Amino acid sequence: MGIARFILSFSLLLSGLVKAVDPIGGSYKIAEYLSHFGLDIFLIGRLPLVESIVQSTLEFTLGALLLWGIRRRIVSCLVFLLFLFFTFLTLYIALYHPVSDCGCFGDYLHLSNWETFYKNLVLFACSLLLLFHPGRLTKFVGHHLGWLISLFSLTYVFVIAVYSVYNLPIIDFRQYRIGTDIQKNVYGDSLSNSYVYTLEKNGEKREFTDRDYPDSTWTFVSAKTVTDRNNPTLFSAYDFQSDLDVTQTILEDTCYSFWIILSNVEDMDESAIDAIDALQDYCNTYNYPILFLTSSNKQAITTWQKNEDITVPCFQTDEAVLKEMIRSNPGFLLLKNGTIINKWSANNFPDEDTLIAPCEKLPFSHIHPESAEKKLLFLALLYFIPILLLVLIGHRPKKKTNSKNKKTMRKKIVAGNWKMNMNLQDGIALAKELNIMLQEDRPACGVVICTPFIHLASIAQFLDKDIIGLGAENCADKEKGAYTGEVSAEMIRSTGADHVILGHSERRGYYAETPDILKEKVLLALKNNLKVIFCIGESLEERESNKQNEIVKAELEGSVFNLDAEDFKKIIIAYEPIWAIGTGKTATAEQAEEIHAYIRSIIAERYGKEIAENTSILYGGSCKPSNARELFAKPDIDGGLIGGASLKSADFKGIIDAWK
Ligand code: PGA
Repeated sequence: MGIARFILSFSLLLSGLVKAVDPIGGSYKIAEYLSHFGLDIFLIGRLPLVESIVQSTLEFTLGALLLWGIRRRIVSCLVFLLFLFFTFLTLYIALYHPVSDCGCFGDYLHLSNWETFYKNLVLFACSLLLLFHPGRLTKFVGHHLGWLISLFSLTYVFVIAVYSVYNLPIIDFRQYRIGTDIQKNVYGDSLSNSYVYTLEKNGEKREFTDRDYPDSTWTFVSAKTVTDRNNPTLFSAYDFQSDLDVTQTILEDTCYSFWIILSNVEDMDESAIDAIDALQDYCNTYNYPILFLTSSNKQAITTWQKNEDITVPCFQTDEAVLKEMIRSNPGFLLLKNGTIINKWSANNFPDEDTLIAPCEKLPFSHIHPESAEKKLLFLALLYFIPILLLVLIGHRPKKKTNSKNKKTMRKKIVAGNWKMNMNLQDGIALAKELNIMLQEDRPACGVVICTPFIHLASIAQFLDKDIIGLGAENCADKEKGAYTGEVSAEMIRSTGADHVILGHSERRGYYAETPDILKEKVLLALKNNLKVIFCIGESLEERESNKQNEIVKAELEGSVFNLDAEDFKKIIIAYEPIWAIGTGKTATAEQAEEIHAYIRSIIAERYGKEIAENTSILYGGSCKPSNARELFAKPDIDGGLIGGASLKSADFKGIIDAWK
């Protein structure tokens, strides 16, 4: 489970991040997919770019939520749906090859279409595991920190994506990155590679290769290199007037030269014209060669040159190569000896005030390219360090509580008492439901469910012990031996349970449990490391004759005040007026508070103030979501022992939530 979770979150974080560093590249890939499926409606304007940013943000954020264990149920569902979709999509791609590279990991990692499908199959299997057991994912952060981390993850990846669109990809994984010797690394390897030519005749456009190149009745429109992972995008440039190959000429320039990359003259970002002018002036002053590279056709280039008054030489190159070179239209390249020295988008090209000296004197010509892996590591640290700090701050030791606010020192508890209800199957289902609910929404108090004996061992298997305690409703007053039908404290403990209810009025009434019997049971429970929820409370008759204080005092003295202080600390008291149990009649909050305060005072008399202040005293008797908040607000009421309302997860949860 843990491994599946980490594989999925790592893969989502990585794929989200590498896509976010190059959203424009992602938008090209999305456009490829959409046009293959005829979804041209989603290709309008900048939509593919928006879709690309949304996709990277979604993948990264889901990966983050999964990693930290935030909103596990919904996140597991979304991750499952995502990989269900990806698995089918990549199967289709593997079978029909509509695209040569799926683009799962942007340009960071290229997998073949079948490799991608197998990878997604594994991830899909992992997501299936999560879908069925989201509750088993460990939560590494609490509720509030979870929100903070979600927000931080979303902002982090979104900022990277937007920054990379405005400037250039923060990390350049492509083959034309800074430091690349275009001549050696690209062109040199590529001479044997083929081209696809688009030619036109009588208004009909067709693609040809070197092998089936037609006669001169067809006119040349454009040429592109064949791109796949074994056949990288290759560089070549042609003079669009004469059709002469100028590749070697422009790459052999031994001094600095500037290239302005315009994948398409019609779509040029007009705001870049000032940067182009500034560069032209700079190149004129210091005599640096400058040229345009574009994939537009002859007519478009000529019109554009005329309109923009461009006198700089302009050459034609394959569109895919230009888009690969720089993710900006226009983009600026500084080269020397055919090697890329620096790159700028239209938005971050140096202004006139910077261009005041020859290149060798300006810092931008002294870039030391760092490896893509190093940059990736840096981005990962930028994400993880703040979160680890947040986690550390979140877990710092809590300040000592002011003595005036003693209630906060005591453990608040909501315990369920199922009594003789629920068969095994229904009981397991109820406990599972509650377990998931409380894992999703952590309680602000201790929660215990006390069930019939037969449920204990099964429920103990899956209950999240950090959130819910498990208890029995009774135990034998004998250690072991020939006591047919009895269940000992040791047996209860061996199921994994850690609590036991003793002294409930129904046991005292229907099964004649006397204070002495209860005294034995308490001792045996404590001996077997069970915490005791010890019930006390008066009948209606006793209340009416105002004997309640007397009764509860006698019950405590009869069965638990014999304990030494250390053992008494393991007792949780439950005050349950018999007239309120299962009758729908609740003691008013004031009535309950009055007697709780009295019980605390007699504990203080017996064990001292400190122990009394630390003893949790629960109220029981027709407690429900509608009255729990009022009862729990009282200074001496530390929670509830819930009967009827603990049999429905929503009601029980409603009472638990009264502590929020
Ligand atoms: P009730 O039972 O909530 O159904 O009144 C309480 C109890 O007996 O513990």
